[in-house]
Amino acid sequence: MATVLGICCSRRQLGNCEVLLREALDAAGEGGAAVEFLRLPDLRFEPCRGCLACVYKGSCAIRNDDLGLLLEKILAADGLIVAAPTYLLSPAGIVKLVADRALNLTPHLEALAGRTRVAATINVAGNDKWNPLGVELLNLFALAFGYRVIDYLDAYAPGPGEVLLEPDNVVRARELGRRVARALAGQVEERPPEPRECPHCYSRAFRLLAGDRVVCVVCNTTGRLAAEGGVLRFRPDPPGPEGHFWTLPHRRHHLDEWVIPSRDRYLARRRVIKELLAKYRV
Ligand SMILES: Cc1cc2nc3c(=O)[nH]c(=O)nc-3n(C[C@H](O)[C@H](O)[C@H](O)COP(=O)(O)O)c2cc1C
Repeated sequence: MATVLGICCSRRQLGNCEVLLREALDAAGEGGAAVEFLRLPDLRFEPCRGCLACVYKGSCAIRNDDLGLLLEKILAADGLIVAAPTYLLSPAGIVKLVADRALNLTPHLEALAGRTRVAATINVAGNDKWNPLGVELLNLFALAFGYRVIDYLDAYAPGPGEVLLEPDNVVRARELGRRVARALAGQVEERPPEPRECPHCYSRAFRLLAGDRVVCVVCNTTGRLAAEGGVLRFRPDPPGPEGHFWTLPHRRHHLDEWVIPSRDRYLARRRVIKELLAKYRV
């Protein structure tokens, strides 16, 4: 039986993220998946130390927190539904704290390659004008842990539970859960992206390049902006051989061609760097 892990990133009991996530998981369960609900703030996470032991030694140097437990659940789960509140224009800090540790997926990339792993995300903010990065950086969390994002919901309500005053939020949350369960039963059908969304990660955040060219800040898909029939559209370039940033082949390529060789490049220049650092030592 396919498994769906639900991760709630809010501390509020019966808050907006929790209720929408529970609806989504309930619908995924009705669709035939085994579901589990996890509250991320109940676990303890240290910030990444930047040592890259996960890449070079195959395991994290931090052993006294709950990343191992979370990773075990994430590696086992075919589906992920993650819900997070927006704090200060983007998902609550715990989302980034944990996503920073996603290089710990490195030893497992090949094992994940043959599996269908899909995610949907739920972002709740108070006000859409104050939420430019909520969906984008929450989708990044799912991508970083090796899932293909097939749907998202952004809902707006400040008070805990207030999201239920708009019945469509519950309808959409359940649709998300059903879509994930259907995909895991073999019918992968992603929500079609809007004209101004990146087709790979649904991001609406693009960096301007020269002329009409832009790049998606989440998955590095390049393309151009085109005004067609009064609608501004993102027209992506054809994907390269490894696809966008978060495909497993692209990650392997980035590790092999850049991250791993960066160690030898550093070691070759270590003496010079040590001399340059000398005046900062106290
Ligand atoms: C510290 C804090 C910062 C917030 N910052 C934003 C913000 O930048 N933009 C926004 O739209 N809402 C913001 N909100 C509102 C929350 O996103 C909103 O209350 C949401 O429903 C919380 O979800 P929850 O009930 O699942 O915790 C903030 C709330 C808190 C407590």
